[in-house]
Amino acid sequence: MLPDIFTCWHDTEFRIIAGFRTKHTALTKRDVLTAATFSAGELENLIELTERMKEMRSGQVLAGRTVALLFFDRSLRTRVSFECATVQLGGHCLNLFAENELYGLEPEDRVVMDGSAEEHVKDAARTLSRYVDALGVRALDRSRSWEVDRQERLLHAYAKYATVPVINLESTLEHPCQAIADIVTIKQNLIDLKGRKLTLAWTDHPDPKGLGPCHSLLHVATMLGMDVTLAHPLGFELDEETVGQARTNAADSGGGLRIVNDLESGLDGAEVLYARAWGSTKYWSDPEREAMVKRSLHSWRIDEAAMARTANALFMHPLPVRRNVVATDSVLDGPRSVIYDQAENRLHVQKALLTHLLG
Ligand code: CP
Repeated sequence: MLPDIFTCWHDTEFRIIAGFRTKHTALTKRDVLTAATFSAGELENLIELTERMKEMRSGQVLAGRTVALLFFDRSLRTRVSFECATVQLGGHCLNLFAENELYGLEPEDRVVMDGSAEEHVKDAARTLSRYVDALGVRALDRSRSWEVDRQERLLHAYAKYATVPVINLESTLEHPCQAIADIVTIKQNLIDLKGRKLTLAWTDHPDPKGLGPCHSLLHVATMLGMDVTLAHPLGFELDEETVGQARTNAADSGGGLRIVNDLESGLDGAEVLYARAWGSTKYWSDPEREAMVKRSLHSWRIDEAAMARTANALFMHPLPVRRNVVATDSVLDGPRSVIYDQAENRLHVQKALLTHLLG
C-alpha cells in the first residue's frame, strides 16, 4: 500500500521519485505520424512547452527511458537533435541505420517472404517495443508510384505493430517535428500568428526533395489561422488530400490559403518566406520528365530581388540547402534569415514531444 503522499502525486513524479520506470502500454500509446495528430489547442500547448524546454536546457524527465531512432534515409538535424534531446532529459537514445544495421523489412501482411526482405515489420516493431520506450522512424519512399508511396507503408506498419509511441522523423507526406519547430520559430518572431502572411515557395533543386516539410507546415499554419500562399510552378502541386485538409483548416481557423503559379506574386506582401524544393507528384513516375521540366525553372530561386518584393519577410528553410541554387548566400546569411533558429528549435521541440509522450 502506497503512502497517501505518493498516490496524490502525478504518476510521472511518483515513478521518478520511486526510482523505477514502467513501460507505456498499448492503452496509453500515442503516435505522432502527421502534423494532424494535434488539435490547435494541443499545438499551442506544445509550443508553450517548447519555450519552457528552451529555458530549462536539461532535466531528468526521461531518466531510465530509451528511445530508438530508425533511419531508412539520411539525416543530420533530426538525428542529432533527437539524440541530444533524449540525453539532455536524462534518457538514452539509439540510432539504427537501415543501410548496414537493419534487416530488409517486409511491411505487408500475409505475404510469402521469399523475396529480399528478411524480417517482417511486425516482428521488428514488437521486438523493439520490448526494449525501448519510443520509436522514431524516417522513411521516404520514392518508387514509381505516388499513390503507392503516399500510403507510407513502412511507417504505418511500425505504428500498427509497435506497442510504444512511434514518431515520424520525416516520411513521404509529412515532417511533423520540423513543422512544429518552424511554427515555434515564426511565433518567436511574429508573436501573434493569426492572419500573418506566410508564403511557401517551391524552389529549384537538382534532386526531387520530400514534400513532408511543406505538407506539415501547411497543416499547422492553416490550423493556427495564418494566411498562407502556396507558390509553385504547374506540375509541382502538393498532395491533393493534404491541400484539401488545409483549406478546411483555414476555413475553421479564420486563416487563408491561396495557390499561385508564379514566384513573384507569391512573394508580394509575405511576412514569412519559406523556401523548399519538392518533387513533382505529377511526374513522380517519370523522374526524367521531371528533370526536363525543371530545366526552365531555374529562376525559382530566392535572391535579394525576391526578398525585396516581400514585406521584409523572415527567410526560412528546413535545411539541408543547396546554396546559390535554392537561395543565394546573401539571403541565407542575411539579416532576415532564421534558418539556424529553425534548426535549434528542432532540439527544443523534440524535448517537448518526448516529454509529452513519455514524461
Ligand atoms: N530538416 C531536417 O529534417 O534535416 P535532416 O534531414 O538533416 O534531419
